[in-house]
Amino acid sequence: MILRKLFKRKKVQLDKSKLPLHIAIIPDGNGRWAKRRGMPRSAGHREGAKTLKKIVKFCAQLGIKYMTIYVFSTENWKRPKSEVDDLMSLLLEFLRNAEAELEGSNVRIKVIGRIEDLSDELQKEIRRVEKHTDGNTGLCLNIALNYGGRDEIVSAVKKIAKEVAEGRLNPDEIDESVVSSRLYTCKIPDPDLLIRTSGEKRSSNFLLWQLAYTEFWYTNVLWPDFTENNMIEALQSFQNRNRRFGGI
Ligand code: IPE
Ligand code: IPE
Ligand code: MG
Repeated sequence: MILRKLFKRKKVQLDKSKLPLHIAIIPDGNGRWAKRRGMPRSAGHREGAKTLKKIVKFCAQLGIKYMTIYVFSTENWKRPKSEVDDLMSLLLEFLRNAEAELEGSNVRIKVIGRIEDLSDELQKEIRRVEKHTDGNTGLCLNIALNYGGRDEIVSAVKKIAKEVAEGRLNPDEIDESVVSSRLYTCKIPDPDLLIRTSGEKRSSNFLLWQLAYTEFWYTNVLWPDFTENNMIEALQSFQNRNRRFGGI
């Protein structure tokens, strides 16, 4: 319904056969959004969580198969404890209400990152929501929580070293597919499109290995202000790119 309205209003030209299979998002700018309104940073995160649900629903309706959203990096622990605590409670709340709020979207939820360092409560909720949405066949939503690209590569290297040491893997057999299959994203294709909001133009340790041939799209819009129309802009830009993957 929303889709039809939007497309009518904007005369949106999107080629449904050329949608990205996998969209990665760095939803940045929650703090600045709040600051501009004289509100605490936590209010920006709360608003950002609402945007997240709205955009996930929209992408599910569009028929996008995979999304990976960066919600907490391994470096975000450097923030004041009060902000980290606020973010963790918000994430817990998000996961608790996910099925109800994304109802009808048929979304399958997975969490990637260093889950073992999170609170028991959060770990339990992650297991619950993953199990509960496992049978869903629509959009696969990967939530990158306590995720770091370098950390992910280090843990893949450790797994490989262990397999070699135990004689289960021959070092000569190590190739790109061996590394890929030891990453958190082993069952997911690499992202086709990366969106970062708030005007920052860096990867901030997100999906370092997987972004090798991803198309980047940036906007100055702060994440809490990001709309379905902004998503369409990103998709239109993606559809006009010429991806060469090193060829001609
Ligand atoms: C992104 O918003 C959300 C997280 C990193 C959790 P920020 O909190 O980074 O917002 P800014 O960049 O300070 O505006
Ligand atoms: C990246 O944003 C992490 C998330 C959105 C979760 P940051 O706001 O933490 O990144 P930097 O510090 O500006 O690079
Ligand atoms: Mg930021």
